[in-house]
Amino acid sequence: MGTGPLGFFEGTEMPTAGWWEALWPNPAGVLAAVGLKPGMDVIDLCSGDGWFTLQIAKVARHGLAIDIDRNLLDVARHRLAEGGVTNCEFLAGNAYDLATLALRAADFIFMANAFHGVPDRVRLARAVRDTLMPAGRFAIINWHQHPREETMILGEPRGPRTELRMSPEQTVEAVEAGGLKLVQLVEAPPYHYGAVFERPEA
Ligand SMILES: C[S@@+](CC[C@H](N)C(=O)[O-])C[C@H]1O[C@@H](n2cnc3c(N)ncnc32)[C@H](O)[C@@H]1O
Repeated sequence: MGTGPLGFFEGTEMPTAGWWEALWPNPAGVLAAVGLKPGMDVIDLCSGDGWFTLQIAKVARHGLAIDIDRNLLDVARHRLAEGGVTNCEFLAGNAYDLATLALRAADFIFMANAFHGVPDRVRLARAVRDTLMPAGRFAIINWHQHPREETMILGEPRGPRTELRMSPEQTVEAVEAGGLKLVQLVEAPPYHYGAVFERPEA
């Protein structure tokens, strides 16, 4: 069982320092590949310690980082302050409550390394849809469904338990059931894929 705050998604603990940076040496490149563009209002959902948030805020018009763990939000806040970035807010809360947490609709919602742990993925996808502008986009970065013992980083198997990992098809099925439409699947090597969805205009 997880030891995080109430409502914590299973298998989504922020890793111990070191190997995350080795796995994600180019977070800006990943964000560009899933469609982050200058001028967007962006939410980083389950933002962790801000490894992606910093790069989001450097490109976006405005960023909002949401995480259930206040301590990680503090780390992220510190990271962005050190980077001289001032266009991002930080909010503690459960991702399911996104639609009420966000005070305005977003152009782009980014969720990396957390969707696999969401118990009710359709509920989460609906909350995202309700928070997006029409034609706004939702990008998920997920571990591929490789056995954990095969996803070696710095000499050790890393990432969530094998049983928690989702295929692209499973991700697409859950998110489309929540009212969004797949627009793009991309690879995020060595072990991840990105799935990008759009909120229909009508
Ligand atoms: C593996 S970390 C990934 C962080 C960041 N997205 C990244 O890829 O660097 C997953 C994050 O999800 C957060 N989280 C877990 N359950 C949550 C929930 N119910 N609502 C919001 N955040 C949650 C955790 O606190 C953790 O920071």
